[in-house]
Amino acid sequence: MKFFADTADIDDIRDLAETGLIDGVTTNPSLVAKTGRDFKETVREICAIIDGPVSAEVTATDAAGMIAEGRLLAAIADNVAVKVPLTWDGLKACRALAQGGTQVNVTLCFSANQALLAAKAGASFVSPFIGRLDDIALDGMELIGEIRAIFDNYEALTTEILAASIRSPNHVKQAALLGADVATIPPSVIRGLVKHPLTDKGLDAFLADWKKTGQSIA
Ligand code: E4P
Repeated sequence: MKFFADTADIDDIRDLAETGLIDGVTTNPSLVAKTGRDFKETVREICAIIDGPVSAEVTATDAAGMIAEGRLLAAIADNVAVKVPLTWDGLKACRALAQGGTQVNVTLCFSANQALLAAKAGASFVSPFIGRLDDIALDGMELIGEIRAIFDNYEALTTEILAASIRSPNHVKQAALLGADVATIPPSVIRGLVKHPLTDKGLDAFLADWKKTGQSIA
């Protein structure tokens, strides 16, 4: 499973990139607003740090506007994936941008049929939002399972399932169990994946016993 960092914060991206565990980045207008920084400059900086796809979202709502914005964003760096919303116009823009050789991430996906449309429109990624479905008492993971089952029925559907709106380590595990190709994960949750109380307890015990030997390795 690929891990994308779900943030526009450069310091977080630099720190996470050092682990070698990050295969891409996703941003959205809300994440960009949180940084208070210039959008295109931020995308350029992220693309220089991360080799994999960096999603940058259009803000126009009509197909022509999305295509024009998408081309501008794609020109920032080779690894920009243009993010378009899962609307009728978004699907038209997805088709046009994908045909022009741009990677497209179709976002705000909340149903299996929407994911099927994104795949048919040539998206490189479709982003089902797990947490936001859970927020309204629906089952985000059920959606991941449905999309996986549908895509696996048809060899021609090569769009990657990018599990988004992930809120917890358990979301990451469930998405991996269900075969999501990618999980885009907030930095705090990525860091949380490594934590286990028995790891800390075990390490403390090993270090205490090692101290008793009076030895040093280096
Ligand atoms: C990423 O592509 C999405 O925009 C993001 O995961 C949404 O997460 P949220 O529902 O926590 O805002």
